[in-house]
Amino acid sequence: MWKCEVVNGPSLDVAEVTALYRASGLAERRPVADGERFADMIRNANLVVVARINEKLVGIARSITDGAYVTYLSDIAVDREYQRRGIGVDLMRVTQEAAPRAKLVLLSAPAAAEYYPHVGFTRHPSAWVRDPLS
Ligand SMILES: CC(C)(COP(=O)(O)OP(=O)(O)OC[C@H]1O[C@@H](n2cnc3c(N)ncnc32)[C@H](O)[C@@H]1OP(=O)(O)O)[C@@H](O)C(=O)NCCC(=O)NCCS
Repeated sequence: MWKCEVVNGPSLDVAEVTALYRASGLAERRPVADGERFADMIRNANLVVVARINEKLVGIARSITDGAYVTYLSDIAVDREYQRRGIGVDLMRVTQEAAPRAKLVLLSAPAAAEYYPHVGFTRHPSAWVRDPLS
């Protein structure tokens, strides 16, 4: 059985998190090869939940929250070997329990588009994205 808990982002081992992004498939869609940028992503997220089996990191949910209105779920990833056991749902439960007044908002990867309606999300018709400056 896995254990999910809120952790302090800066305390995580970036190499271990990078390995998890690769093992989940999410690395294809995140700048893991840019070590400095990826380390900033992990360090600056203010709500990070991890799932471990024994000591092994098998899942992560990385969010930015104001704790009161909205939690932006930037990334959720579960190691392919451990997918479809309920770890993703548990990561989101712990994330939402950490900021219970906040709604969860996210942008879905194409491969997960069918996942979110299955786990309680509704599609928003007016999501807008502006590209970064650099
Ligand atoms: C998306 C992801 C986080 C789901 O995590 P998970 O631990 O495998 O999901 P769960 O076991 O909690 O799944 C809960 C339910 O959703 C279903 N489900 C899981 N992945 C699904 C998918 N891609 N499409 C549709 N349904 C899915 C499960 O079968 C399960 O159904 P059930 O409740 O009827 O048994 C995981 O597949 C992943 O890491 N994918 C690669 C990275 C990625 O795309 N992340 C999302 C970025 S936006």
